[in-house]
Amino acid sequence: MHKDIVNKGVGAMSMDVKKNSGHEITRKEELNSGDYLIEVRAPLVAAKFMPGNFVIFLLHEKGERVPMSVQKVEGDRITVFFKKLGKTSRELDSWHVGDCINSVVGPLGNAIELKKYGNVVFASDLVCGHAENYAAVKGLKGAGNHVISMQSFPTKDDVYPRKELSTMADEYFLTTADGSQGIKGHYTDVLKGLLDENKVDMVFAGGDIPSLGKLSELTKRYNVRTMVTLRQIMIDGTGMCGACRVFIDGEMKLTCIDGPMFDGHKVNFEEVIARLGMFKEEESVAMEDYNSRGVCHERK
Ligand SMILES: Cc1cc2nc3c(=O)[nH]c(=O)nc-3n(C[C@H](O)[C@H](O)[C@H](O)COP(=O)(O)OP(=O)(O)OC[C@H]3O[C@@H](n4cnc5c(N)ncnc54)[C@H](O)[C@@H]3O)c2cc1C
Ligand code: FES
Repeated sequence: MHKDIVNKGVGAMSMDVKKNSGHEITRKEELNSGDYLIEVRAPLVAAKFMPGNFVIFLLHEKGERVPMSVQKVEGDRITVFFKKLGKTSRELDSWHVGDCINSVVGPLGNAIELKKYGNVVFASDLVCGHAENYAAVKGLKGAGNHVISMQSFPTKDDVYPRKELSTMADEYFLTTADGSQGIKGHYTDVLKGLLDENKVDMVFAGGDIPSLGKLSELTKRYNVRTMVTLRQIMIDGTGMCGACRVFIDGEMKLTCIDGPMFDGHKVNFEEVIARLGMFKEEESVAMEDYNSRGVCHERK
């Protein structure tokens, strides 16, 4: 299956293309009913990846470029978490172990500054943030910090397998909005308790953008530095198109080359949220088209 898309490496800057083979999927697992994990061979990305970097997947040569956070690197393989959202993520869900992805571009963006901060929190409440959480906790632990990992999910059925993350972090908090597993509420509730006790020196977070806005408002009150991942719509991922622009302290920045992490206290969240919804109509047309044909029409 999908052998039609093999042997189509695209030449460009740091593209990691295996001659005549693409990027083989070596593992695929469900994380919950909506999200799944994919491990692919991407030796050039794996060799250079640092926590905070991201990659861009191109499933086949006429596909859409999708930015993805990297959860883990093992040998020449990288692991990413996908949410079944629209056309491309659903299309990839029909790829299987042994199939090949046309290209995996990266590592892109700036890495997290891995240094000793003291008590560091990494908080996440959405697929990309959960992947970043794992990569960052590993790096921040290695830099000698006391690392507190927090994950939030809507309900117990959405919770990911978390043993690896909870074992690696010094402290781990799980919350569900309905209280069906872990602490009832959101990571911001748990964090507020720790901030009240003066137990946090630095916060990193990724996931839902409105949550990152609320988090940044909270930590600003306690004057605790907070870096958040902005997943703005990206096209080239190399600073050429301007699609991923955001405003930081009134100054225009490009998420792909200046970010993807920014000082949450300086982000104009209203503008970020408005731009994220910019292509809703096109996305739903692409999804309807994909559903009606059962396959991406561009590949036909
Ligand atoms: C730095 C970064 C890291 C990301 N990490 C992850 C991750 O680890 N896991 C994950 O599932 N998703 C991640 N995303 C978002 C991901 O790229 C989109 O979910 C994906 O493109 C959806 O494509 P689709 O065709 O399935 O859905 P669509 O219907 O095309 O889009 C659904 C939603 O996904 C987002 N999106 C769509 N296209 C893009 C794009 N080109 N760039 C950015 N966002 C887009 C928009 O919010 C959109 O409303 C990340 C985005 C960025 C910028
Ligand atoms: S994605 Fe084009 S400038 Fe960032």
